[in-house]
Amino acid sequence: MKKVVVITGASKGIGRELAYVFARKGFDLMIASRSLNLLKELGKEIEEKHGVKVLTKSTDVGKREECKELIDYTVDSFGRIDVLINNAGIGLYSPVAEMKEDDLEKVFYVNFFGSFYCTKYAFPYIKEARGSVINISSVAGLIPVPFMGGYSASKHAMNALSFTLAMEVKQEGVHVLTVCPGVINTGFVASSLGNYRPKFKVRGTHPSKLAEKVYEYYVKRKRLLIYPWYYRLILMSYKLFPDIYGAIYLRFWKKKS
Ligand SMILES: NC(=O)c1ccc[n+]([C@@H]2O[C@H](COP(=O)([O-])OP(=O)(O)OC[C@H]3O[C@@H](n4cnc5c(N)ncnc54)[C@H](OP(=O)(O)O)[C@@H]3O)[C@@H](O)[C@H]2O)c1
Repeated sequence: MKKVVVITGASKGIGRELAYVFARKGFDLMIASRSLNLLKELGKEIEEKHGVKVLTKSTDVGKREECKELIDYTVDSFGRIDVLINNAGIGLYSPVAEMKEDDLEKVFYVNFFGSFYCTKYAFPYIKEARGSVINISSVAGLIPVPFMGGYSASKHAMNALSFTLAMEVKQEGVHVLTVCPGVINTGFVASSLGNYRPKFKVRGTHPSKLAEKVYEYYVKRKRLLIYPWYYRLILMSYKLFPDIYGAIYLRFWKKKS
């Protein structure tokens, strides 16, 4: 019987590339996001290329009942869940003092509560399979990023839950991988909330490279992936010289026209 992976936010960007990688490795897939048409097209393409089964489910992970329906549908259809990838996420570019309450709440519902809901409902099946939970967080979940305070807070919260879960469930044979990417070339900036944007186009990494690395870390049952590696230098620069780090980052932003 094939292993089953559930991927949230699989219609675009990193989630889409993760779908390709896990399909190439022979997994059956449940792919979810709010754009059902995009998911259906992707599912068809993957089924034709890789001979695995792909099911789709329109899901807003910010809604608890839709996360429950996603997991129930997966178990009813495939009878198992080996891997859950909490990838769905949105950005928010705004200084803290100007941040809209609704925007911050939305970011927390999608990035933090969404991953918690899916993990909670999928956990009994992942435990049965001695499988993995993979949380796609961010480098912004490890250090603060000026003008991204709301997003950074949601990813810090996600990391806290992810690292804690990893410790709690290791004895039960469940593996938890926390993924903290730097800039990856996707539509993330364009679809983010908030009134500010980066002044310069930062050259990021192709999402397929990150997806391959995630799969490698999943197979090795590692705990933390910071990718690309040089983001470790940025983490260190914040720890050693927080004022200089902050002063440099403050120059990065402009108001959206
Ligand atoms: N790109 C980066 O530089 C970067 C860096 C660090 C971390 N990350 C993280 O990587 C993850 C994927 O981001 P990405 O770069 O691939 O961005 P993206 O291209 O904008 O894709 C985001 C995905 O999340 C889905 N999504 C958004 N809101 C959702 C909701 N309420 N319910 C269900 N799905 C939802 C979107 O699908 P629909 O619109 O169809 O719902 C889409 O498939 C996010 O968690 C992000 O925080 C990205």
